[in-house]
Amino acid sequence: MATQSPPRNASAAAAAKPHLADAVEQPYFPDEPTGPIVRTEIPGPKSKEAIAELDKVFDTRSLNMMANYQNSFGNYIADLDGNVLLDVYAQIASIPVGYSNPSLLLAATSPDMASAIINRPALGNFPQHDWAQILETGILRVAPKGCDQVFTAQAGSDANELAYKAAFMWKRRQQRGGADVEFTAEEIESSMNNQSPGSPNMSILSFKTAFHGRLFGSLSTTRSKPIHKLDIPAFDWPQASFPALKYPLEQHAEENAREEARCLAEVEKLLTTYHNPPAAVIVEPIQSEGGDNHASPAFFRGLREVTRKHDVLLIVDEVQTGVGATGKFWAHEHWNLQDPPDMVTFSKKAQTAGYYFGNPELRPNKPYRQFNTWMGDPARALLFRAIINEIARLNLVHNTAETGDYLYAGLESLSQKYPGEIENLRGKGQGTFIAWDSPRRDEILKKGKGVGINIGGSGASAVRLRPMLIFQKRHADIFLEAMEKILKS
Ligand SMILES: Cc1ncc(COP(=O)(O)O)c(C=O)c1O
Repeated sequence: MATQSPPRNASAAAAAKPHLADAVEQPYFPDEPTGPIVRTEIPGPKSKEAIAELDKVFDTRSLNMMANYQNSFGNYIADLDGNVLLDVYAQIASIPVGYSNPSLLLAATSPDMASAIINRPALGNFPQHDWAQILETGILRVAPKGCDQVFTAQAGSDANELAYKAAFMWKRRQQRGGADVEFTAEEIESSMNNQSPGSPNMSILSFKTAFHGRLFGSLSTTRSKPIHKLDIPAFDWPQASFPALKYPLEQHAEENAREEARCLAEVEKLLTTYHNPPAAVIVEPIQSEGGDNHASPAFFRGLREVTRKHDVLLIVDEVQTGVGATGKFWAHEHWNLQDPPDMVTFSKKAQTAGYYFGNPELRPNKPYRQFNTWMGDPARALLFRAIINEIARLNLVHNTAETGDYLYAGLESLSQKYPGEIENLRGKGQGTFIAWDSPRRDEILKKGKGVGINIGGSGASAVRLRPMLIFQKRHADIFLEAMEKILKS
């Protein structure tokens, strides 16, 4: 039987009711609030004032909620008006082990961390003496199968762009006949004029409704919403259809298999005929920003086969799916690939970023071809190491798989009770990476705050759940109750 420690915020106790899961499960953070507290409309008066102040110096038009992180703890995000919400959006899927996590606080206040912050190295030129050890005991400790090297980066878009550059340099080296073949005078000269052959006509193939970031290069592979792309010059790169699966999956198996075969055939056609030949295909294990679109392991195995067949690299973008959220450390572990991806990009819950790879030929043939000032950040790498330790200590990937099943079952019951409200429920067996379509999605997200839940959307009509890895059945109970309140209203 779990012992319920006194709640951090006394008024939370009054707000919380005992839940079914409390009886069987040990809380990870006993002094986490026991439930949401809603004191005012959100934003309340203090938040409104602070938002107005901020707006004078910083664009607040995309603001969702102004938070007080010093008062946020575990799964709960606090605002300035005393409201405390159960956060199943978690900074756009990027908080792994809870707000104000004590283990991370310990890592953050260590002498190693202080040194890394105030003596930030230009890693390509002046790496610190223990960089290899930091990588081996951190980022590389959780490297996906087939990957034993990493190129570190600042953010998800940056990681993807670096992976694209590695792919282009790899392809050209292959075409040139090896690492030792020198560049021609024509290549050298034309590169300075942005002309072929120095700046070759090659491409990265991505999928319709994909999201791979908003920097210049990555934006050309992003296809989720026009507002991200308008007015920005883009590369002439190909896009293939991503499977549009029908739900429930069990009832549409044949149709869905046909749809996936159609998309794979389209990929193959583009790989072999597109006027700017692809050096790589990039794909998300679950298209996230584009609406939580799933495909089967067989589809991804097919994608690996077709890229291998045509000597094109496969980049798996695990920026949103990685670090445990799907009930495996990396979502592509669900696919049972015999032949691993060539590169795997990561960020968000890792709190650092980069791309993993195994093939030594993915290191450019000369130094300074893949380079920038910082090339990552030891402080953030130390933080990821602490996150990895915390995930291992609490067995959080397993927790996410189990809690996800519990949450999915609860949502399935709700979808039967309110059939028009929860459509295309998806993410079964994918940890807490669950979503559904709702005809009144935006209203649901808005009403969430009124019942103590911070929740996000994706694509045109999906409600997406992205809780942290410390989200337990007790939190799922609170969430399901809140959802039912909204659906009844
Ligand atoms: C799958 C995926 N790739 C790349 C990115 C871009 O990452 P960042 O916003 O850190 O540049 C995101 C961000 O949402 C993402 O979900």
